[in-house]
Amino acid sequence: MDKSIVVYGSQYGATERYARRIAEGLGCETVPADRIRKGQLAGYRTVVFGGGVYAGSVAGWKKIAPQCAAAGGRGWILFVCGLADPAKEKTQNEARMLFEKRLPAALAGKPPVFCLRGGIDYPKLRTKHRVMMAMLAHFLRRKKDPSEEDRQLLATYGGKVDFFDPASADAVIAAARNETD
Ligand SMILES: Cc1cc2nc3c(=O)[nH]c(=O)nc-3n(C[C@H](O)[C@H](O)[C@H](O)COP(=O)(O)O)c2cc1C
Repeated sequence: MDKSIVVYGSQYGATERYARRIAEGLGCETVPADRIRKGQLAGYRTVVFGGGVYAGSVAGWKKIAPQCAAAGGRGWILFVCGLADPAKEKTQNEARMLFEKRLPAALAGKPPVFCLRGGIDYPKLRTKHRVMMAMLAHFLRRKKDPSEEDRQLLATYGGKVDFFDPASADAVIAAARNETD
């Protein structure tokens, strides 16, 4: 049985960067979620899956979740890559919820979930995503009591931000090593 694999869903490369860093730490390969075949992940002792957060879903997770469910979550480590601040409990709770809504209830709280911070480059967004972000900014500008996060999003809206923090991936690497040992 192969030891570990890092699978990712990434639209603009931030999650892929973290996936590569984690795979480097584990000495294993990285494969995009859309290249994973049905049942393929059953051959690994440890699977790290990470995806970019897109308005209530995690890129690639819809396809990969059934294989995590089939393994009963054993040996699986999950992470999201989003703009939300990983230090906030709300970000962590939401990340877990995004994964668990596609898993059987019995797996609630089972696989460890990590939050890593990505970035955004507005001029590079595809039309669909640009429109979604424009709608969000429009909504936030009219909000009576915007949160600190709302204000931060508006302050960077239209520009480029990159929160990539390679050291934040160390916790994912450690958790995966723990599963493999
Ligand atoms: C249309 C759109 C929706 C997004 N929704 C969220 C969100 O709900 N929560 C969040 O933390 N980040 C959100 N983001 C930010 C992305 O998660 C962030 O850009 C991340 O780095 C993307 O990873 P990727 O480059 O691997 O696809 C959104 C970005 C776009 C373009």
